Amino acid sequence: MATRRIAEVLRSGEPNEAIAVQGWVRTKRELKGFAFVEVNDGSALASLQAVLNQDLPNYEEVLKQANTGASIEISGVLVPSQGKGQRIELQAQSVTVYGEADPESFPLQKKRHSFEFLRTIGHLRPRTNTLGAVFRVRNACAAAIHEFFQERGFLWVHTPVITASDCEGAGEMFAVTNLNLKQVPLTDAKEIDYSQDFFGRPAYLTVSGQLEAEIMAMAFSNVYTFGPTFRAENSNTSRHLAEFWMVEPEMAFCDLDGDMDLAEAFLKHIFKTVLERCPEDMEFFNQRIDDTVLATADNIINNQFERLTYTDAIALLEKCDRKFEYPVEWGLDLQSEHERYLAEEVFKKPVILTDYPTQIKAFYMRLSDDEKTVRAMDILAPKIGEIIGGSQREERLDVLERRIKAQGLDPEIYWWYLDLRRYGTVPHAGFGLGFERLVQFMTGMTNIRDVIPFPRTPLSADF
Ligand code: 4AD
Ligand code: MG
Repeated sequence: MATRRIAEVLRSGEPNEAIAVQGWVRTKRELKGFAFVEVNDGSALASLQAVLNQDLPNYEEVLKQANTGASIEISGVLVPSQGKGQRIELQAQSVTVYGEADPESFPLQKKRHSFEFLRTIGHLRPRTNTLGAVFRVRNACAAAIHEFFQERGFLWVHTPVITASDCEGAGEMFAVTNLNLKQVPLTDAKEIDYSQDFFGRPAYLTVSGQLEAEIMAMAFSNVYTFGPTFRAENSNTSRHLAEFWMVEPEMAFCDLDGDMDLAEAFLKHIFKTVLERCPEDMEFFNQRIDDTVLATADNIINNQFERLTYTDAIALLEKCDRKFEYPVEWGLDLQSEHERYLAEEVFKKPVILTDYPTQIKAFYMRLSDDEKTVRAMDILAPKIGEIIGGSQREERLDVLERRIKAQGLDPEIYWWYLDLRRYGTVPHAGFGLGFERLVQFMTGMTNIRDVIPFPRTPLSADF
């Protein structure tokens, strides 16, 4: 008998079809002479209700075993459901329990658990409604991202995780050390010489694939990366992770306007696709997590993003009557309270800020004629703040060399990056989307730790 995914059965299963499903028991309700068992296999938010009658040969045994969390296979025939809330249900003919879950110790029960508690059982939380919906939406976002770029002829390039260069020049890198675990087992951690490095040279976990993506863009014109990046910033906030995923397109023969146009079309495409593919999950977030989620998605898809310069944004913030915790002054970086105020209260939609002060941005951003600002752009989202950071890149060799030195960086390390400006340089631009921040924005989840399966933060990394 064909095993079917529950999402597909709920959508298109018809009465009298003989099917089998496999999954984990969400609830069991015993009545006189029969029982209801709800099974979930992760393919949908909803579970499939199965009706077990006492004439099943192993009825008593199954009832003892099929507790919340147990793994189960049920085969039978689909019948119209008498109850409310579901169209069809499965009349069981044969049931196998693969693995029991002791109801005394299994930590997930029918009641709602706090996200803090769920983080302490990271190995079981994917089996909850909310985290299940988050990871399905996360998957749909990833698929939409690949489709967007592939349809436009962008090449997906794989940039290294281990690198010698600090892309952002912010000194927030984790060092890589080649421990010899045969000589010194990890259990003797005190004996390990942590000053050892990567086969005699310094190496780090990448903070961004951008510099390597620029290499590839100088050969393939339009490329993108999609992979893990690492930041050794000790910030315990609801928007920062030590390990997060970033999507970084890079385009040759492109300026800042082209960069902004692509970023806007990109976000609109992702929201549209996820609404189409995950309607139940998105409805769930709107009902249970944040009742502005669907309106926000609609806003993103149907309104043009606001575009203004950093200088104009500072003027706006200086003359508003809101009291901020952090100072507002031309030359200082914006804090998330400022970013959110602009996106949530002034414009009520995403805002693209451009032309930031040179001294607060990275060395690779293209210097404007007045040299006071660079061709940078950040996209600020309601509730999140910065979701995308990008720029037109400095393509002039002499200016780039000057900027690297001015920031106290070593030009030797960036020799190959400078070479790209020696041989066939072109105006080019790109941006980086924080993938977890996108998923937060999409779902309304308030803590970034709850939109990645295995969060890495200063205070958590269980496995
Ligand atoms: O603004 P950032 O630092 O830009 C870059 O890394 C550029 N090299 C991107 C490029 O132009 N190719 O980071 C880009 C985005 C931010 O806007 C934010 O959404 C996310 O990455 N981000 C983080 N997300 C989670 N945890 C952190 N610690 C993050 N740091 C940045
Ligand atoms: Mg940034």
